Amino acid sequence: IHGPNLNMLGTREPDIYGNQTLDEIDAALKQQAERLQLHLETFQSNHEGDMVDKIQQAHVSFHGIIINPAAYTHTSIAIRDALSVLNIPVVEVHLSNVHKREAFRRHSYLSDVAVGVIAGLGSIVYDLALTAALAKL
Ligand code: DQA
Repeated sequence: IHGPNLNMLGTREPDIYGNQTLDEIDAALKQQAERLQLHLETFQSNHEGDMVDKIQQAHVSFHGIIINPAAYTHTSIAIRDALSVLNIPVVEVHLSNVHKREAFRRHSYLSDVAVGVIAGLGSIVYDLALTAALAKL
């Protein structure tokens, strides 16, 4: 699940987020999932409520979630509450090293309801998160 503004990857602040588009990231992740014989669905929204709806659906139809909540990481109690009722592994990812940036990015409302957090390595965080989610199952 990709949060707001991640649909702009490729053109959005490439010095921070890299040159890859979200479609490229999703395609690479789908290939990795196929190799691991996993079903992977990707979803992006700029809207908090749509992300909450998707998380609630995942509750019944998926075995794990990889989420880059983007700016909602730092603001959204609604997304945290939706994730905290799940009994499937949730891996929080960030392309950039949020600890190396503005102070407001250091706080996440979600990290303590995730099994783990991977941040700051660029798009490889998604591959690492898939491996981690699988290991946790
Ligand atoms: C982000 C980091 C957030 O602070 C920011 O608001 C984003 C992207 C990342 O992937 O590095 O939109 O989650």
